[in-house]
Amino acid sequence: MDDYDFDVLVIGAGPGGYVAAIRAAQLGLKTACAESRETLGGTCLNVGCIPSKALLHASELFEEAAHGTLAKWGVKTAGVELDLDAMHGTRLEAIKGLTGGIEFLFKKNKVEWLKGHAAFTGKDSVKVGDRDVRAKNIIIATGSSVAPLPGVEIDHEAIVDSTSALELSKVPGHMVVIGGGVIGLELGSVWRRLGAKVTVVEFLDQILPGMDGEVRKEAAKIFKKQGFDIKTGTKVTKAERTGKGVTLTVEPAKGGDASTIEADVVLVAIGRRPNIDGLALDKAGLTVNQRGQVEIDHDFRTKVPGIWAIGDVAPGPMLAHKAEDEGIAAAENIAGLTGIVNHDVIPSVVYTMPEIAGVGLTEEQAKEAGEIKVGKFPMMANSRAKTNREPDGFVKVIADAKTDRVLGVWIIASVGGTMIAQAAQAMEFGATSEDIAYTCHAHPTHSEAVKEAAMAVTGKPIHI
Ligand code: FAD
Ligand code: NAI
Repeated sequence: MDDYDFDVLVIGAGPGGYVAAIRAAQLGLKTACAESRETLGGTCLNVGCIPSKALLHASELFEEAAHGTLAKWGVKTAGVELDLDAMHGTRLEAIKGLTGGIEFLFKKNKVEWLKGHAAFTGKDSVKVGDRDVRAKNIIIATGSSVAPLPGVEIDHEAIVDSTSALELSKVPGHMVVIGGGVIGLELGSVWRRLGAKVTVVEFLDQILPGMDGEVRKEAAKIFKKQGFDIKTGTKVTKAERTGKGVTLTVEPAKGGDASTIEADVVLVAIGRRPNIDGLALDKAGLTVNQRGQVEIDHDFRTKVPGIWAIGDVAPGPMLAHKAEDEGIAAAENIAGLTGIVNHDVIPSVVYTMPEIAGVGLTEEQAKEAGEIKVGKFPMMANSRAKTNREPDGFVKVIADAKTDRVLGVWIIASVGGTMIAQAAQAMEFGATSEDIAYTCHAHPTHSEAVKEAAMAVTGKPIHI
């Protein structure tokens, strides 16, 4: 192997990096993965997807017990109490189990974990901690971190980011979330269910940018019904720590009179930015684009031969499954196979109740691209959702008016995150709405709403 230490060195052990390392090793390449964190799994397993879903699940159970949902079903509970320490304990257990699992998979697949911060020293060399390493291929998978908001300094006590918002030791009386995106709504839901009043301050006219317009409107309606106070078209101009919390100064985004909001805890969730600090990309001859991302081609190659980039540090949605698929594809390309990710079919899910999910084009984007047909079916008319007392939401199927090919599917439903998988698969297979409408779906399932929405594309649903 010349004088290379490794065929592949992956920098970062998040869902992009650890998956790339395992696949490279499976393909017979001598592989190492550098990670500066104490545990493997990156943002997703340590402070992202997994702990947030643990708290979403736990808080949902609490709300069901405390607010009469279980009682409605004849399950009587008395003296329901919140044991936040126990809830955090179970969250930490989930993280430990999964991050330990990745360590086991590294050992099983003979991926060497190089512990420490990695920085380029040349085009094919990296320093990890004190160790100099040369590798034939280097995959940059360093992920992303919380984007700061100037003037609203995160102190991890009263002004928190997504990581410290997962670790609050008591339920705030009033939590103000800056940013009506995915993190704000998921973590806002957690603390609202546990008893906080939650106000969301969003700069744009609507929450959930990037999603289908109708979905954004309906989601806002549902969140307001749940008790969220949503202030759209509003910007925060100042945050001042007070004895008991924070005074936020806000004003209309388009300009106007300022007012103040008192909060016990402020969560800053205005997006994330790629991790490139301290990576010495210049030593490798690499630069970043305006958004701080490492640019790549269709095969995940950077402009420097032998250096690849995947996941949050590269362009595209900052999602774990996108990072994972890119990790597999990059490793396969390095091994001489053909690794491909179809970036037109990457589902996204907001894990609130109900869940909000989408794949492909929004109705607005599809209309701009050409003539379309749209079919919709309300969850209220789906027997399973109705029986389970989960009436909120709908399924929307967007198809090309001429070819009937499905261009996008949007779902608001209690299990929308699971339902969207069939839509993604249908789109990968180039399905028409008729293909979905004539596929037998098990009864009674929430997924039947996808079939009925597909039937509605040509105007023939049964149950509405
Ligand atoms: P990361 O997971 O960020 O991992 C990068 C790793 O590289 C880190 O461990 C970091 O320590 C390490 N690293 C960085 N620089 C260096 C260096 N120089 N040397 C050594 N190591 C380095 N996505 C979803 O799809 N579903 C969800 O439900 C979801 N929930 C989320 C909830 C929250 C609160 C947050 C914050 C994010 C969530 N995400 C979710 C996004 C998801 O976590 C990211 O898209 C995903 O982790 C990106 O994977 P990655 O491998 O690119 O990077
Ligand atoms: P986001 O991009 O989803 O939302 C940020 C929101 O903040 C936007 O609505 C934006 O308009 C608003 N905003 C920006 N600047 C603002 C300002 N100054 N004042 C008020 N509002 C402002 O980012 P978020 O929620 O921080 O999440 C980061 C990323 O992490 C997501 O984009 C997603 O990729 C990933 N993530 C994914 C999850 C999932 O898949 N379920 C869960 C959590 C995070």
